[in-house]
Amino acid sequence: MSRLVIISNRLPITISQHKGELQYQPSAGGLATGLNSLNDSVNKIWIGWPGIDIKSDEEQERVRKDLRKHNLIPVFLSKKEIKLYYEGFSNKTIWPHFHYFTQYTSYEERYWEAYQKVNQKFEESVLPHLREDDLVWVHDYQLMLLPNLIRRKFPDISIGFFLHIPFPSYEIFRILPWRKEILEGILGANLIGFHTFGYMRHFLSAAYRITGHEHNFGHLKIGNRLVNVDVFPMGIDYEQYAHPEFNLLKENAAFKIKQLAKGNKLVISIDRLDYSKGIPNRIKVIETFFDRYPEYIGKVILVMVVVPSRANVDEYKELKHQIDTLVGEVNGRFRTFDWAPIRYFYRSLNFEELMTLYQEAAIAMITPLRDGMNLVAKEYIASKEDSKKGVLILSEMAGSSNDLPDALTVNPNDLNDIVKALKQALEMNEKEQRWRLENMQKRLKKYTVQHWANTFMSEQKRLMEEQKKQRVYRLQGQTRENLIQHYQTAKKRLIIIDYDGTLMNFHPDPQAVVPDAAIIDILTKLKDDPANKVIISSGRDRQTLEKWLGALQLDMAAEHGVWTKKNNQWSSNPNLGAAWKPEVKDILEDLVERTPGSFIEEKDYSLAWHYRRIDKDLGAKRVREFRDVLLYLTANLDLQVLEGNKVVEIKNAGVNKGKAIMNWINEQKWDFFLAIGDDHTDEDTFEALPKEAYTIKVGIDRTSARFSLASVEEVRSFLSELTEA
Ligand code: UDP
Ligand code: G6P
Repeated sequence: MSRLVIISNRLPITISQHKGELQYQPSAGGLATGLNSLNDSVNKIWIGWPGIDIKSDEEQERVRKDLRKHNLIPVFLSKKEIKLYYEGFSNKTIWPHFHYFTQYTSYEERYWEAYQKVNQKFEESVLPHLREDDLVWVHDYQLMLLPNLIRRKFPDISIGFFLHIPFPSYEIFRILPWRKEILEGILGANLIGFHTFGYMRHFLSAAYRITGHEHNFGHLKIGNRLVNVDVFPMGIDYEQYAHPEFNLLKENAAFKIKQLAKGNKLVISIDRLDYSKGIPNRIKVIETFFDRYPEYIGKVILVMVVVPSRANVDEYKELKHQIDTLVGEVNGRFRTFDWAPIRYFYRSLNFEELMTLYQEAAIAMITPLRDGMNLVAKEYIASKEDSKKGVLILSEMAGSSNDLPDALTVNPNDLNDIVKALKQALEMNEKEQRWRLENMQKRLKKYTVQHWANTFMSEQKRLMEEQKKQRVYRLQGQTRENLIQHYQTAKKRLIIIDYDGTLMNFHPDPQAVVPDAAIIDILTKLKDDPANKVIISSGRDRQTLEKWLGALQLDMAAEHGVWTKKNNQWSSNPNLGAAWKPEVKDILEDLVERTPGSFIEEKDYSLAWHYRRIDKDLGAKRVREFRDVLLYLTANLDLQVLEGNKVVEIKNAGVNKGKAIMNWINEQKWDFFLAIGDDHTDEDTFEALPKEAYTIKVGIDRTSARFSLASVEEVRSFLSELTEA
């Protein structure tokens, strides 16, 4: 069974020091509580920071030993690292930026340097524990560089990455000076998970625009790796909150909460102290509510739990001050001798207290300005499993609002909207409360945290299997040796090679892809071997091919076979016409007018529209529009439309690279066939060749070729190897 290696900034246990003694407590926050509830059937180790600066080697050793019993491995961070990496880059740069609080984003280079160093430190702590068949699962925004750091040392290991906070829109993300490095770090993973489709969409858009990696329904190909980006909304351990195990009445605090709920309707607000949670707004909502509906004074209480968090970060300190002041003001305005509108706690609650509050609360008011997920909302719903009484008011900016559509959804910036929702919630009849709760509970029961983790891990395994299958077909190891042996013994070899994307990398300007000295050298050597017949089969026009490669005196097929060059003589396919060109060219010119950056390439018997330099989505939109117009034309004109790599080509029907190479296949009896190409126009070549031919696809797209090579560089080194064989 493969092992799960979880890596997160914080371990699920936080250590604190009290009168010289080390104390171990469960960590706060969604990530720690969620993942920690994974049951023990998963064989897992967890690597992370224990939440305290421990300097002495002896003490570190003791902690290591204590944690080892729970399969936890500590990464010790110094005070300076905590200040620059944790409080700095993680919580003063990434956290505000990704939550759209760009006014708080700090752009300090020293924070970034520390972030890189600490990500490396995590890498160093992780590597000695890793095995090739482990499932590695890296969590959250503090460790976005780690997937690629591990990837460099373990090229084939399965790495998952999950972001627990929002991924902002491209326009926000692009502001960060370190945007490219961050994306490349994350893209070292095979599976990248987000809580919502919105975050996934933003990530893919940023990945394309900043690193140039395109996706197809969330699937990317990076070098020879498959990467999948998907949505996995995190759930909760439903049973734990639906049927908590403790005797409520024996608990003092629980008893008091129940007493409080007898005389008042309790509205709860529970969050870490964080500006993303919208806590001040909520206090203002309560104030407006009592102003507008004084009949509720003395009957409704806001129980507000604010859990201390990131207390050394300035914005958090200021927020604390703001909350204290606002609570004071509102309580001062509305309190009576035996009642106050807000019961405010600045501390964390234990499980019993939290559960009793959930169960007793008539309303949960959860109105973050931005929140990756928000588990409190889900826990509240689960706690109503037996009573079926309670209303959830939930911000549409929380990831969980996607999973809880039967909550009263509000815009957290619209105070009136929340006040209205509060009134509606207080007046909601029990029947409506029940059906809303039941709908949401049904979903939460099914999509638990265990389900979330299992789905993520199964997808990791599935991707690994798929990747392994691809590896089998890669031209390496024994397969490659066999090919070379066959090459050495063969006497009559037919070698067909595509040009762009196979021998030379793409360039935004097609005319800039002039062959370099290295490729000329390789082709010359191949051609000089009397046993070889080398053919360059390209979509390019014959003039360009002749100019660039003519001196080599190779045979060639240009314009996908419209022209062929044999024995230094070019000839064209006799059945072709070009009378259709002006009509199609008109359409293409209109397309270019509307699409700056695209251009037309005119060949003797075909027209091509290139859109390499324009936005991919705009290109796709134009291709679709254009296809519709062309469909009509091509049906009447006996033309075909070929979609290549950022190019659409219109040419006479019945011309393709496969038909073109028949000229050579039938020329004599060959005892070795080799064809290499990257585009889907090369598929016709692969299919035209006999089954035993060595057909090689460049890249890892779907293909009918038998083998694959990852890149132009790999093709070049393979051909060099042949020339030396
Ligand atoms: N929580 C807790 N004690 C408290 C308040 C909250 O253990 O006094 C837990 C709560 O049950 C939830 C987590 O902290 O599981 C908060 O997660 P959430 O996703 O709501 O917010 P985050 O802290 O991740 O931003
Ligand atoms: C959020 C983040 C977690 C983080 C938690 C608590 O849930 O997504 O990565 O652990 O808040 O924050 P802290 O800074 O105390 O770890």
